[in-house]
Parts: sequence; C-alpha cells; structure tokens
Amino acid sequence: MAFDDECDYLFKAVLIGDSAVGKSNLLSRFSRDEFHLDSKPTIGVEFAYRNIKVGEKLIKAQIWDTAGQERFRAITSSYYRGALGALLVYDITRRATFNNLRKWIDELREFGDSDLVIVLVGNKSDLGQKREVAEEEGRELAEREGLCFMETSALENLNVEEAFLQMINQIH
Ligand code: GTP
Ligand code: MG
Repeated sequence: MAFDDECDYLFKAVLIGDSAVGKSNLLSRFSRDEFHLDSKPTIGVEFAYRNIKVGEKLIKAQIWDTAGQERFRAITSSYYRGALGALLVYDITRRATFNNLRKWIDELREFGDSDLVIVLVGNKSDLGQKREVAEEEGRELAEREGLCFMETSALENLNVEEAFLQMINQIH
C-alpha cells in the first residue's frame, strides 16, 4: 500500500470478467454515479479513483478497468501488478460468463498477489426475468473458491457501493 499526500492510503484494485458483463458501468456507478445504456467495449486499460473514509482513515482507491475481449486487452501481468483487490464480474443473464469464471480465477491466481482480496459479482440483478444463473450458484462457487459474493445492478444502483466496500474493508 502506498502513501499519498492528501490520503492516508492509496491502493489499487482491478475489475475483470467477460466482455459486456458491466465492469465499466459498475466502475462509473461507483466513481461518478453514472450509468450508460449504450457503453462501448473498453479498449486497453482505464482508471477511476474514489476517496473513501474507512474508520478514521481516508483511502484513495485507484480502480483499473480493462477489456473483457481478449483482442482489446493490455499486458496481463502489469494489469495485476500491485493490486490488493479484485472484483470478478459475470452477468446473471448469460450462463457463458459464469462458466468462464474458471478461466478468470486461474488468471487471478497466476498473476495476482497471493493475498489478493477477491469479490465475485453477479451483475444485472435488475434483469430477473432473463436470469440464467441462480444466486445460489454464485454463492456456492464463491464459497468453494474462498471469495466474497454479491449480486449487483449497475443500472438500478443495487449493491454496487456494497461490493466495492466489501473489497476495500477487507484490505484493511
Ligand atoms: P468490456 O469493456 O467489453 O469488457 O465490457 P464491460 O464488462 O465493461 O461492460 P459494460 O459496462 O460496457 O456494459 C455492457 C452492457 O451491459 C451495456 O449495454 C450496459 O448498459 C449494460 N449493463 C451494465 N450493467 C448493467 C446492469 O446492471 N443492468 C443492465 N440491465 N444492464 C447493464
Ligand atoms: Mg468495459
């Protein structure tokens, strides 16, 4: 963890998961309270910051967002370097994004720090009528892998803050 002029701590966290699961919208919701129905796929790497008060300490979270699409991804090892937390996101309306979690977990274990705090996030909980992955399946996978778990909606702003804070609180 690095020190910063205006904050007590500065730390890095990363977002990962398949394309179009809602990583960029979770981040824009958390950092700017914005949501975009027509957002474009991320190319390369983007960042956002948010300052959060945890107890008496002011923490600056630097959150990295990258492309879910392989061809738009930047170098993997540098993306994970120094990260203390990760949100691993799937889309509850697309089973394939849940099945692919194995690949993402393997990548996290390969490139991430051994004590990286990981929160598994099932996004788009507002689309209940199109659900393909039961909440219980997400919870069970998280338990098996030793991850935290939460379903969110970036659109309706449900549990977004909670998911990021769950990660941030465990880092401290
Ligand atoms: P890549 O950058 O390609 O990896 O995709 P991404 O994971 O960043 O997805 P993005 O945030 O761009 O969202 C993809 C699409 O899903 C967009 O049309 C969003 O509006 C939509 N979306 C994101 N979050 C939600 C949500 O919680 N509910 C609903 N209904 N749609 C969402
Ligand atoms: Mg994106």
